[in-house]
Order: sequence, then C-alpha cells, then structure tokens
Amino acid sequence: MSDQKLHVTDGRTGKTYDLPITDGSIKAMDLRQMQTDPEDFGLLAHDPAFTNTTSCRSAITYIDGDRGILEYRGYSIADLAEKASFLEVQWLLLNGELPDAAQLASWKSDLASRAHLPAGLLDVLQGLPKDAHPMSVLMVLMAALGGYSADSRNVRDAKVRAEHIRRILAQMPLLAAAAWRHRRGHAQIAPKPGVGYVENFLRMIYGRDDVNPVLIRAMDVLLTLHADHEQNCSTAAMRGVGSSECDPYSCSGAAIAALSGPLHGGANEEVLRMLAEIGSVEHIPSFLAKVKDKKAKLMGFGHRVYKSYDPRAKIIARIAKEVFEVTGKNPLLEIAVELERIALSEPYFIERNLYPNVDFYSGLIYQSMGFDPSYFTVLFAVGRAPGWLSQWDELIRDPEQKIARPRQIYTGHRARPFPR
Ligand code: SDX
Repeated sequence: MSDQKLHVTDGRTGKTYDLPITDGSIKAMDLRQMQTDPEDFGLLAHDPAFTNTTSCRSAITYIDGDRGILEYRGYSIADLAEKASFLEVQWLLLNGELPDAAQLASWKSDLASRAHLPAGLLDVLQGLPKDAHPMSVLMVLMAALGGYSADSRNVRDAKVRAEHIRRILAQMPLLAAAAWRHRRGHAQIAPKPGVGYVENFLRMIYGRDDVNPVLIRAMDVLLTLHADHEQNCSTAAMRGVGSSECDPYSCSGAAIAALSGPLHGGANEEVLRMLAEIGSVEHIPSFLAKVKDKKAKLMGFGHRVYKSYDPRAKIIARIAKEVFEVTGKNPLLEIAVELERIALSEPYFIERNLYPNVDFYSGLIYQSMGFDPSYFTVLFAVGRAPGWLSQWDELIRDPEQKIARPRQIYTGHRARPFPR
C-alpha cells in the first residue's frame, strides 16, 4: 500500500520532509518548514497565474480538460443544455440539486418580484456616453446597484446573501438590456409580468413582444452553457474580492471587469473582429501564418484547462444551425468553419492542444440575433452571474477560507540610504 506522503530532501540542508498528500495535492504551507536556518522565512511555491495551484475546495463545477468533460453539480453540460432551463440551472448551481416544480415556481416568483431597477440607477446610466463599452456600462451599473443595498455588506448572514443573490440575478438582464437600449438611444423598457426570464430579456432588447421562440430557446441554452466554469479568471476575481467580505455587488463588478478582458470573456468579441479581418476563406492561410509567427492569436481557440474540444463549443455549433434557420446564415460562418478545419489539421495547433473554445462560435450566433460584437461579453456575463454568485456563496460558507493575500518574490532594491 503506497503511503499518501511526498518525501522530499532539501538539498540545501540535507534535511528530509514527509508532506501529507490529500485530494491529489500538498498544502503549500507545509513547504514553509523547509528552512536553511532559523531566520529563514521558509520555502514558498512560485506559481504566476496559478497554473498549478488550487485556491479552494468546491462542489459546484467539475471539468476534465483532457476528456472534454463539464458537469454542473454532477450533471453533464450536454444534458443540462438539452433538458434544463437556465432558471433550473441557476437553482442547481446555487442549491446543489435540480429544483422540483414547487421550488422552480417559487424561484421564478422570487426573481420576477425583484425584476425592477431603482429609479436613480437609470440617471447613472444617462450620465455615461452612448459609445461607452457595454462591459464598462455593466460594471458601473452593478457597482451602483450596490449603493441601493447597504445591508448587503452583512455577508455572514445567510438570509442577506440569499436576498441579494436573488436581486442580482433578477436585475442582471435588466442592467444588460438597459445598457443595450442606452447605447442605441432607445427608451428603456420594463420587464412584462408573467413573461419568462429569458423571453423578457429579449423583449427588452428587441423592444417587441413577439420574440421568435427559437431565439428564446437558443439564448436560454447559451446562458446555461456560460453559467459556470469552476475557477476561471472572473470567478477567481469574484472569490478574491469576496474574501475581504465586501458586498456581492462589488464582487460582481470585479468579476465583470475580469470577464471583459480579450483573453477571457472578451474573446467572443475579438473572434468576430478576427473573422471580419480575415474577410474570406482564401485569406485563412496567410492569417494562420501570422498566428504561427506569433503576430496574431487565433481568438476563440485554446484553453487553460481543455486540452481537447471544449464541450460547450460542440453544443453552440448545433445551436448556430437552429438560429441561422430563423435569422439567415451568418456570412462569417463559412470562414469560421474552414478556419477550424484547417487549424485542427495543422501540427502547430495540434501540438499546442488548440481547439475551439466556448467563444469561437457564440459570437456568430449573437451577431445573427442582432447583437453587435461589443455587446457579446455582456451576454456572457448574464449567463455567468449564477456561477459567480454560487461560488461566492460557497466561499463565504467555507471554513477553510480567509482573506486572499498571495506572497511575492521581491526583486527590487533594499534599504537604500535617502540621497539627501
Ligand atoms: C474563456 O478559464 C476558463 O474557464 C475560461 C472560460 C470560462 O468559461 O470562464 O472557458 C472562458 O475565457 C475561454 C478562453 C477565451 N479566450 C480566447 O479564446 C483567447 C485566445 N486564447 C488564448 O489567449 C489562450 O489559449 C488562453 C488565454 C485561453 C489560454 O492560455 P494559456 O493556458 O495561458 O496558454 P498559453 O498562453 O501558455 O499557450 C500555450 C501555447 C503558447 O505557444 P508556445 O509559447 O508554446 O509556442 O499555445 C499558444 C501560446 O502562444 N497559444 C495560442 C493560442 N492560445 C495559446 N496561439 C495562438 N492562438 C491562441 N489562441
């Protein structure tokens, strides 16, 4: 029977240490005992970008990057996309189980009764330029929303967390729609009582009641596909900021900021720019040559965890076909499909495990649904909100957690005499 210990020898002192291994990991703090002398601070682990460091124990989302597996609370993303609604997935992420009929009805009612924005919030919006990036607008509105919820700072009170999780999820589509209508100079529209969560969102976007049910279902599935993804950059921001026990609106604002980056949720916007820049199938080889020369990135490709096809990308490709039957095929689709075909056959991309990720095809659908590229990441944020909030709630309840405060390797000057 192998022992669950890592036996190490510190070559600097010849001392040996037995570090317990639990859940496939060692405690980084167990390294600190390895000192060269009693004054020595002890050994640290250096891991920029946390490429091989766990930050928490979580029971929410499981990913196997080699096998392309993604599960929310143990249910496969394929089953959830096909058989569950986004509101059921919100409940599942937050509560650990799929809701029964009564729980789902109560959840819908909880969100509908909170689906209204404080009047002053739209005045904040009016103060922003119409061409402000929609993710900047969303960030401002989310932080401002916190200003109307002073009690939300009592994060150790489970009832307070439950209330503000409901408010943020109820109001996220309203913030997103308000940003969309502000950008277009259109009058704001309130959600309609009795209309579903996703349908109301699209009603407020399109400004009409007769939204095509194919588009409603497609958006519902897209929101589910984006709902959580374990410790991605924006969730790490949610947890890092949340570890100081600030309110969930401030944490969500930080998560929105992280998501807006082009390497993360902002990639869906960059994919459309890339496809438009390529312009035609004939130009794909010269573009890929630029990528191999490191003069461009293949946006929508690659992933820190998936070293095989992102399971969400497969589902999105199916949704694209259903949406294009309603909206007409996106002219950039041909370039995207050919780009994927060539990239998946070339050693440069195969050697680096570069496959399409969730952002590669989603933007084509969003554009065909009438959204402009700068708004795509707002749609990602509406989907990811239940993931951020379930991870935040888990953080606050986790006895192992305390304020996040990494160490550093200091490379600067020391103890310099002041020059005058
Ligand atoms: C999301 O983490 C999550 O879960 C995120 C997400 C979620 O749901 O929350 O899944 C959502 O953010 C998806 C990713 C969206 N981003 C993009 O599509 C942007 C393009 N992708 C890359 O920037 C990159 O693939 C990352 C940022 C996604 C991952 O980068 P890593 O893990 O840091 O990988 P790396 O930069 O170390 O790359 C390893 C090699 C390098 O080449 P070499 O130095 O070995 O020669 O692969 C190359 C990189 O240059 N590479 C790419 C590439 N991605 C990696 N080369 C060209 N195009 C790319 N897209």
